[in-house]
Amino acid sequence: MDYFKARITRMEIPARDHVLLRFTRVSNNFPFPTQGKAGMGSRGDSDIEGEPGQFVMVRGSWGAHPILPRAFSLVEVGKEGAILVRNVGEGTNLLASMKQGDELLVLGPLGHGFSLPSETGGGVALVAGGVGVAPLVFLAQRLADTGIEQVFLYGARTGDDLPLRDRIGKICDLTITTEDGSVGEKGLVTAPLERFLQANPSASVFSCGPEAMLEAVARVSVAAGAQCQVALEAPMACGMGVCKGCAILDVSGEYKYVCSDGPAFESVKIFGRES
Ligand SMILES: Cc1cc2nc3c(=O)[nH]c(=O)nc-3n(C[C@H](O)[C@H](O)[C@H](O)COP(=O)(O)OP(=O)(O)OC[C@H]3O[C@@H](n4cnc5c(N)ncnc54)[C@H](O)[C@@H]3O)c2cc1C
Ligand code: FES
Repeated sequence: MDYFKARITRMEIPARDHVLLRFTRVSNNFPFPTQGKAGMGSRGDSDIEGEPGQFVMVRGSWGAHPILPRAFSLVEVGKEGAILVRNVGEGTNLLASMKQGDELLVLGPLGHGFSLPSETGGGVALVAGGVGVAPLVFLAQRLADTGIEQVFLYGARTGDDLPLRDRIGKICDLTITTEDGSVGEKGLVTAPLERFLQANPSASVFSCGPEAMLEAVARVSVAAGAQCQVALEAPMACGMGVCKGCAILDVSGEYKYVCSDGPAFESVKIFGRES
């Protein structure tokens, strides 16, 4: 994990209220001890690192308020990192208003991402809703790079809320559902998932999106006998297990910290096995 200064290299608007923000490392930064390759205060021309499902805490150089950085899943790593920002409030509005060349402070990569399947004969389904698409695009690319076949099931309220859909279509087989039927199949994303699991009951399912969707995806997957991992969101202040702001109760009643125990969890540990 590193704490570093970055510079915005490119910004795109992949859907309304969303910005895909690419950045490169400029130099390592300081108040936290880091284990970064570049070392304290040195020029940071090293790559942005991370695994699918890991995240970064990001803030711009916008003065004191809001003081806390915001959490974003990594969409890309390498010479440039990328995050998808959905503009929902103060911090994301400020990030969405930034320009190419502006400076960011980035802490990461953080958390535990998805465990990649070692055995994929049973099939792989990625199920995304809303901004949960971000870590799954990264995962889809990683699976494609390692030659693993997958289906990507992407649900939204309307066809205007499907950032990165063109890109997913270039990586793998994509099925879209919208609640208003404006694009793809009308209905919820669990419908094509149920069909997929009927044909592939021992599949591996990876999901990120609104909690109600994750719970439904987990229920359908467990009922079919599939393995399911879900990436959760929770309000975060530190992103590294210190503030305890992201605590959730797991199915056994134990506290888990989304930032350091997750964000990716086996669904049965969070939602149980009840269908
Ligand atoms: C591990 C993780 C990964 C995330 N990945 C992404 C991502 O890839 N892209 C993205 O756009 N967002 C992502 N988020 C959510 C993002 O961090 C919040 O949307 C952001 O912090 C809101 O900041 P704000 O200042 O704009 O909103 P605020 O002004 O603080 O709040 C605006 C509204 O958003 C709600 N909100 C605030 N934080 C969260 C949160 N963490 N989860 C759900 N609702 C929240 C508030 O309750 C309020 O209704 C992620 C969150 C986590 C924990
Ligand atoms: S965000 Fe501080 S402990 Fe998780």
